[in-house]
Amino acid sequence: MENTSKEAQVKLDLSVSLGPLRLQNPLLLASGTWGFGEGLSSYLDLSILGALVTKGISLHPRPGNPPPRIAETPCGLVNAIGLENPGLEIFKRDIWPRLACFKVPLLVNVFGQNVEEYLAVVEGLLETKIQGIEVNISCPNVKKGGLQFGQDPKTVALLIKDIRDIWPRLLVVKLSPVGPVFEVAESALDAGADALTVANTYPALVVDVIRRKPDIAAGFGGLSGPAIKPLTLRLVREIYRRLKAPIIGCGGITSGQDVLAYILAGAKAVQIGTATLLDPMAPARILEEIEDLLRQIHEYRLAQLTGELQD
Ligand SMILES: Cc1cc2nc3c(=O)[nH]c(=O)nc-3n(C[C@H](O)[C@H](O)[C@H](O)COP(=O)(O)O)c2cc1C
Repeated sequence: MENTSKEAQVKLDLSVSLGPLRLQNPLLLASGTWGFGEGLSSYLDLSILGALVTKGISLHPRPGNPPPRIAETPCGLVNAIGLENPGLEIFKRDIWPRLACFKVPLLVNVFGQNVEEYLAVVEGLLETKIQGIEVNISCPNVKKGGLQFGQDPKTVALLIKDIRDIWPRLLVVKLSPVGPVFEVAESALDAGADALTVANTYPALVVDVIRRKPDIAAGFGGLSGPAIKPLTLRLVREIYRRLKAPIIGCGGITSGQDVLAYILAGAKAVQIGTATLLDPMAPARILEEIEDLLRQIHEYRLAQLTGELQD
């Protein structure tokens, strides 16, 4: 039966601001779980999202890792896709024009093997009308013997400052959840990042004991899904407490409850990844759940809840 109570008629304000962007709601599609998001559009009206984050784009095409690339674990998923993507030029020529039709703000996830490659991708994206970039710093830095960019606060500071110098639109930095996370977060913000995505997947291993081999051809992979939610929630809380940073929470979200938990812990917005593999329509359901919860707690402006978790 339709709920006609006064409570149900109150207009909710789910909008959030991230740097120069104002989003209609805090739900973003996380990078990579649906490639460029196009496949998901058969199940979900993408225009209901706050924004869509694309799979990672590099300067040159990358074939990714050999299969198997994904293994299921209890409450999670380990993947080692290897950042497969068609490269900047094909993205600009073929993919961006198609994505622009979905009427949803677009953040392009970018990465490189060295600082010059990151900068070349970002510069190339200036010619498009995308609303923002998300810089994935969980990639090996070829010039530093393969150490991930995101493990060294000084390298992150230089990289993000160089990107900030040429990129005037929304600039989000996606953190790795391991290593000197707080120092890296601070470096990224000091260098000019508008917001931080907290966080990427956790390094993980799944073993096939009969074959005595990892389940995934590449060996290690990254763990995502509900298994990581309490770990990433803690990171969001700590980063918010220490730095009062604009945070996009990302890790294991499957419900409206999860979204509010991240927002209370300190996030302004959230990303949903693995949950959409199980249920491509999850974001629509989660939006409804957020609205129901806000009405239940008589809070009509979502943005007011950021960081309001009581100790
Ligand atoms: C299959 C798959 C591919 C992914 N590809 C990328 C990627 O290209 N770039 C990136 O920054 N994160 C990538 N991620 C990480 C997700 O964007 C997200 O940070 C992570 O999965 C945690 O969120 P979740 O638990 O909601 O999935 C990928 C995750 C999965 C499962």
